[in-house]
Amino acid sequence: MELSKDQGTKGSGGKSLSVTRRDFVKAAAVVPAAGAFYFGYHALQGSPVKAGIVGTGNEGCEAMIKQSPPEFLEYVAFHDIRPTQIARARRKFNELYGPQQGEAVTFHESWESMLADPNIEAIVIATPLWTHAQFAIEAMKAGKHVMCEKLMAHNITDAKAMVRASEKYNKILSVGHQRHYSTLYDDAMETIRSGKLGDIRHIRAFWHRNNAQINPDGTIRDSWRPEIPEADQSVDASKYGYKDISELVRWRLYDRTGGGLMAELGSHQVDACSLFLAALAGADGHHEHVRPLAVNGMGGKWFYEDDRDCDDHIHCLFEFPNGQTVAFTSINTNAMAGYGEEVLGTRGSMTVMQERELAVFDENDPLKKKREAKKTEMTVDAAKPGEATMYSAASLGLPVEAAQKSTAKVSRGYKEELEHFAFCIRHPDPANQVRCDGLVALHDAVIALSANQAIRSGKRLEFQDAWFDPSSPETPDPKPNDMSLASGV
Ligand SMILES: NC(=O)c1ccc[n+]([C@@H]2O[C@H](COP(=O)([O-])OP(=O)(O)OC[C@H]3O[C@@H](n4cnc5c(N)ncnc54)[C@H](O)[C@@H]3O)[C@@H](O)[C@H]2O)c1
Repeated sequence: MELSKDQGTKGSGGKSLSVTRRDFVKAAAVVPAAGAFYFGYHALQGSPVKAGIVGTGNEGCEAMIKQSPPEFLEYVAFHDIRPTQIARARRKFNELYGPQQGEAVTFHESWESMLADPNIEAIVIATPLWTHAQFAIEAMKAGKHVMCEKLMAHNITDAKAMVRASEKYNKILSVGHQRHYSTLYDDAMETIRSGKLGDIRHIRAFWHRNNAQINPDGTIRDSWRPEIPEADQSVDASKYGYKDISELVRWRLYDRTGGGLMAELGSHQVDACSLFLAALAGADGHHEHVRPLAVNGMGGKWFYEDDRDCDDHIHCLFEFPNGQTVAFTSINTNAMAGYGEEVLGTRGSMTVMQERELAVFDENDPLKKKREAKKTEMTVDAAKPGEATMYSAASLGLPVEAAQKSTAKVSRGYKEELEHFAFCIRHPDPANQVRCDGLVALHDAVIALSANQAIRSGKRLEFQDAWFDPSSPETPDPKPNDMSLASGV
């Protein structure tokens, strides 16, 4: 959402918050070494961590490889099963490291061969949801640290097994909810802690897309149903547990392999709202949480008429303690709202949009009207794509020069999560803990996957403490998953 000058000044109460321009931290994320500044690490002081990656599709290539920090983490190996994505990874490595080093990154024909590679210290997992637990647990068992994409696992039984494996094999497990490494979200939490928003009873979170636009040939342009490239047609997908090549390429559409809108999109915002409510409660949000009490949900396959299992529209209402609620919607047929969170407090509102804009609005206070009118200020203006508009958080105390720089790209946190992961591997110390470890990710997985159960049953579902406890067998899982690994740990 790019706010015009008018929208910025109008906000919810017709005025901006009374902070001065000098206090603004505009695009603090671009301050050199911002990640280290915010997240408490420094240069690696040692050779980069040698890593392998499994799954070199969209997220693997565009985030985990392209945005990886070579001075912290160096890919030495990769594995995938689709020829197009293997070639894509090779191109990415060449771009990142130059042709000589790029060509030297070893391609492993099999997962087992990559696991056995003694050169690898850590494995990055960016494969479809249902495979995460198996890859993560086998990797940790083989002595590798793991950075696994979100959602942590396909079911809670598997997610708990991943946490236990991390403990049992004493390996770091970091899960890719990148908002834990976003300076924008850190700033949002700081804004909540500062009291500028007052007390908070409601957050509206949404991820709206239009995956229903029509191509010239009459087909629907659905990003979850991509074309199957010619070069991948010959892959024997059944060797890897898929029904066919379509299930491998379009895994998000099916219950066996994906977790629907809640797992793919909503889990990010469940994570964000957990951070916000933790900040309000005085918790750090990374290792201390606020648990929801219950969730109601509804959803359905209301637009598409194909073979998919997953809903195309969902609406969930989460109840938290103290009468706090979080409403989440995800729809596939209109993109106007985009994605983001609106945090609605007694004194102000905050919007965090598209992982790159943060704006704070004063709540209308008739008693203050006269005083405020004298110093109307502009706190929000339009950001170009990829640039930041971030106002607020004087409390961060960055130097004024930093506040005046600005306009480079805001990091969404992928680079920082990989940096910190590598840093924690090189500097083992109780003080150095990845921010989205297995327990944090289990918390997010329980909330997201329980919401799916609430949607399916049409009933209000109350969260049980035991669901969040990795040592307890209790879960909200509907039935043992036929593809679930979750044993032996
Ligand atoms: N953090 C984020 O913002 C974010 C964004 C997008 C995706 N993701 C997550 O990243 C993961 C991958 O998503 P994606 O969009 O890249 O999907 P994708 O389909 O583009 O890529 C998945 C890759 O895994 C490979 N693969 C599948 N099964 C395999 C197996 N058994 N062995 C080896 N390789 C296998 C596929 O060939 C493909 O290249 C998902 O968990 C997704 O939720 C996270």
